[in-house]
Amino acid sequence: MKKWHIGAVLAVAILVTLGASSNSSITIKSNPDEGFTNLKVLPKNISDKQLDSVMGNFSISLGVRCNFCHARKADSTKRGLDFASDNKDEKNIARNMYKMTAYLNANYFIWNNSTRPDTIHYVVCYTCHRGNHEVDAKVFLNRIDSVEKAFHKNRH
Ligand code: HEC
Ligand code: HEC
Repeated sequence: MKKWHIGAVLAVAILVTLGASSNSSITIKSNPDEGFTNLKVLPKNISDKQLDSVMGNFSISLGVRCNFCHARKADSTKRGLDFASDNKDEKNIARNMYKMTAYLNANYFIWNNSTRPDTIHYVVCYTCHRGNHEVDAKVFLNRIDSVEKAFHKNRH
């Protein structure tokens, strides 16, 4: 039977990063025949290790834990999260964000000739979120305002 364990190192890294303590023993069992059962944007044949890495990346980029996007098990006598469930809006927003990010990279960040190998040549969740699920506008609000006005003017 195929079992999926969060890599110990990553789990520790996430727990330390997020200051969490109670979820240190999550074990995810992917369906033995079908693997993960409800993937709509990630490749269906993604390996356990790759999925582990993507989910860790989402969590750190947004500064949240798994339960920010994943609903609890419907059977309230059971502990833990139902990872395949779509009962939390945040999970679907994350799917849209993933599609948007992939689109931006495919269409606007084709940066083969960069002279700066030390910079990141594509957009990731962290580019905008910087460790927050709500992208912080306070600091930049005045400047964002003028960009937004110019943007709307160009569209009319
Ligand atoms: C920002 C939102 C978000 C966070 C945080 C998040 N996930 Fe996910 N997770 C998703 C989305 C979206 C999918 C579905 C991807 C798709 O449709 O291809 C998913 C799918 C999964 C699946 C596959 C379920 C199946 O069978 O289809 C597992 C397992 C999973 N996540 C585990 C985790 C774990 C463990 C954590 C915490 C370390 C975590 N996720 C954190 C958004 C999130
Ligand atoms: C181009 C900038 C940008 C990128 C890239 C981006 N996001 Fe977002 N995201 C936003 C903005 C702006 C919001 C709205 C924030 C708010 O409501 O204050 C948002 C909101 C969200 C929300 C809802 C948060 C909440 O509090 O309800 C989720 C979940 C999310 N993003 C996940 C992701 C994931 C996962 C990725 C990477 C695959 C990603 N985002 C990449 C800009 C971005």
